[in-house]
Amino acid sequence: AERNEELKERIAQLKKERNAVILAHYYQRPEIQEIADYLGDSFGLAQQARATEADVIVFCGVHFMGESAKILNPDKVVLIPDERAGCPMADMVNVEGLKKLKAEHPNAKVVSYINTSADVKAETYVCCTSSNAKAVIENIDAEEIIWVPDKNLGHYVSQFTDKKMIIWEGYCNTHDQLTVEDVYRLKEQYPNAQFVVHPECRPEVVELGDFVGSTTGILNYCRDSDHDEFIVGTEDGVHYRLTQDSPNKKFHFASKYMVCPNMKVNNLKKLANALETMQPQIYVPPKIADAARASLERMLQFQA
Ligand code: 13P
Ligand code: SF4
Repeated sequence: AERNEELKERIAQLKKERNAVILAHYYQRPEIQEIADYLGDSFGLAQQARATEADVIVFCGVHFMGESAKILNPDKVVLIPDERAGCPMADMVNVEGLKKLKAEHPNAKVVSYINTSADVKAETYVCCTSSNAKAVIENIDAEEIIWVPDKNLGHYVSQFTDKKMIIWEGYCNTHDQLTVEDVYRLKEQYPNAQFVVHPECRPEVVELGDFVGSTTGILNYCRDSDHDEFIVGTEDGVHYRLTQDSPNKKFHFASKYMVCPNMKVNNLKKLANALETMQPQIYVPPKIADAARASLERMLQFQA
């Protein structure tokens, strides 16, 4: 713990020297969430990355989040504590496959979950996150949509639209592990608890939700709700903020396997080193970044 305090001091010092801002996702380790200048879900983080006046953005999340920040701010330095923090779901779609699908459906527009690589975004009309996906699909000027890469979120939003959705077969390893049996077991154990769930979970699991939403959506719902006990169907990192917001409420995690190993790769030591050495930096080839930027700018016009 003492070591952590030292690291935190070093980070605060370096942050000033570099004029840096620290953005962190709710799935990061608690000690990182504690020192973040801004803590958020994918949408909030993209908004902050777009708005910041700092010279350096340190993105504590996974690679595609840092990439998105860099695409929105080509002239800023974007650091990530560990380059190996990727997102397996983002890696499930590639440009070749997407181009093939576009050729097969020439009238369709591509909507990509923000969990995609920069080169996929370069082939995308509009990005979305779990918090504004419904609004994006509803308002987009197309009747046919190619949706990549999350089949679970795709299925969830397809219930709210008459538009034709061609859905890619990707999924989040972490959320897709949760089963209805896991949820039933906990519902039996805690009959008064409400079930709050992220739409990256399987359709049959999402269907059991008393509330379905992004991480920020889930946090706000639990904070503002009159209920005081919840079964939580998302990554375990949200526990930190849930208990900060509502110290007297009870939170049960639907599965002990709901941990994203990629999100946990970052730690305070790597964060301090990144600020010290100004490495590793996110690099996006300018041609790709220029082609991808419009998809993110469009996304930011659709409120969560
Ligand atoms: P949100 O932050 O939009 O809820 O997405 C969750 C996630 O899995 C990010 O990788
Ligand atoms: Fe990717 Fe899932 Fe981890 Fe989010 S929680 S970074 S979607 S693997």
